[in-house]
Amino acid sequence: MSEKKTLAVIGGTGDLGGGLAWRWAKAGYRVIVGSRTQDKAETAAAGILADHPDAIVEGLANVDAAAAAELIVVTVPFSVQKVNLDAIREAAAGKVVLDCTVPLVPPKVARVQLPEGGSAGQLAQEILGDNVDVVSAFHNVGAEHLRSDQQIDCDVMVFGNKVAARDQAVELVEAAGMKAWHAGPLANSAAAEAMTSVLIGINRRYGVHGAGVRITGDPTK
Ligand SMILES: NC(=O)c1ccc[n+]([C@@H]2O[C@H](COP(=O)([O-])OP(=O)(O)OC[C@H]3O[C@@H](n4cnc5c(N)ncnc54)[C@H](OP(=O)(O)O)[C@@H]3O)[C@@H](O)[C@H]2O)c1
Repeated sequence: MSEKKTLAVIGGTGDLGGGLAWRWAKAGYRVIVGSRTQDKAETAAAGILADHPDAIVEGLANVDAAAAAELIVVTVPFSVQKVNLDAIREAAAGKVVLDCTVPLVPPKVARVQLPEGGSAGQLAQEILGDNVDVVSAFHNVGAEHLRSDQQIDCDVMVFGNKVAARDQAVELVEAAGMKAWHAGPLANSAAAEAMTSVLIGINRRYGVHGAGVRITGDPTK
């Protein structure tokens, strides 16, 4: 992306979306926090502005947020992924949608339970249709690390069927302060989505606060 795009974060009132919106707002992106409820969106946007008074942030109902944005980020629980994507399908036409859904099925969230469609990323593409370029990322980033200026000890694998769409997500990962890796088509998203359940188990077993992943052998270092 040569110029910073306007971002909508659907479910941006939550832990992951709120934290990512906080980082992108700080990085100078115009961010629209989306919610099922406009009031809730405005309150969440005000919380980000309190920390970054110079940021350009507003809160809108999800559909309005999606319509006003150039790139849409979706951060909602797996159980409501479809209903939230159905709601924005029209507004998302012709755009890149960055889906962060991890297919956790409570109560056994530390057990890998991938959906029949292969991955939540592939389901998002199926729901939104061919005129939307779905990419997926941020599956392994603990939301508790985001609302701070600290470096996050986690790399981000970016999946998507089109390289140009993945490029846009790579830029957003870097803007949020993490190392991004092109990690192949949406079918590969299953690997990172599955890894989240493994990390949740490791958090519990070892008392880690938001374990992450790191790709070794970086040739740029
Ligand atoms: N939390 C993490 O550390 C983390 C890390 C990596 C990936 N993820 C994945 O990212 C996604 C979001 O995770 P999260 O922890 O941010 O989720 P969350 O805080 O529980 O929920 C995010 C938002 O989803 C919205 N939502 C829409 N429909 C909903 C419904 N029917 N019931 C409840 N909430 C609904 C809510 O926004 P409104 O009420 O404002 O509409 C809520 O604020 C999940 O798929 C998760 O697996 C999370």
